[in-house]
Amino acid sequence: MTLLEGRTAVVTGGARGIGYAIARRFVEEGAAVVLGDLDGAAAVEAAKSLPGTAMGMRCDVTDEAEMVALLARCTTEFGQLDVLVNNAGITKDKTMRKMSSDDFRSVVDVHLYGAWLGTKHASAVMREQAGGGAIVNISSISGKVGNPGQTNYSAAKAGMVGLTKAAAKEVGFAGVRVNAVMPGLIRTAMTEKMPQQAWDDKLADIPMGRAGEPEEVAAVVLFLASDLASYVTGTVVEVGGGRNV
Ligand code: NAI
Repeated sequence: MTLLEGRTAVVTGGARGIGYAIARRFVEEGAAVVLGDLDGAAAVEAAKSLPGTAMGMRCDVTDEAEMVALLARCTTEFGQLDVLVNNAGITKDKTMRKMSSDDFRSVVDVHLYGAWLGTKHASAVMREQAGGGAIVNISSISGKVGNPGQTNYSAAKAGMVGLTKAAAKEVGFAGVRVNAVMPGLIRTAMTEKMPQQAWDDKLADIPMGRAGEPEEVAAVVLFLASDLASYVTGTVVEVGGGRNV
């Protein structure tokens, strides 16, 4: 028996990195998955490469109509929406002296507004269906401790914790669980563009002495999305090898 047999899921930012690893793990556990990504072609390709039922489509998570269409794709194709993972993300790191208002707003928009849109519309569907549903928001340790050069990103990721906890209290009665995961330093395209010195400094701070892999985040997201976490809501799980605990 696999953990998501007969379930359906939507993963935003699922074309690569952590989102793709989550989608792969979900499919391996028996779920039918819709990948939404700003890069629609990459989402379609990613879905084709998965070993099970999956489809990909373009979705800009900051566009309400596109978010609604992404969630609707899941209910139309697969009959229900059991799991949403708000994972899409960008970085525009700069010190505040150099950061423009657009750098700030666009990062907050993708992470926080995008996750709010997803949570709002997915929970509206989930609360009406038998069995409720599970929403997992991908925050970051950066939202817990604050990283210099990331006033935009840290603010957005901390905001996602507030969103998670407030939403969990609103929709818990209907069997909809909302949780967050805070990855630490995970090896993906997002972190590969970091300067070597910044990577080395972060690595030196990790008690386990290594960066994490996307699959190690996916395993925790799977737990929160599955019935193993049937009585877990409004929580934040850190996946950071002991960094900043
Ligand atoms: P990535 O850059 O490899 O993948 C992000 C994906 O999101 C890309 O496919 C991109 O096209 C998509 N995306 C960007 N803007 C979008 C939008 N407006 N609408 C839909 N899709 C959009 O990044 P990675 O590392 O896989 O990150 C995934 C999530 O994990 C992000 O929320 C990130 O902030 C978070 N995270 C990553 C950490 C790391 O060390 N890599 C650490 C902590 C959190």
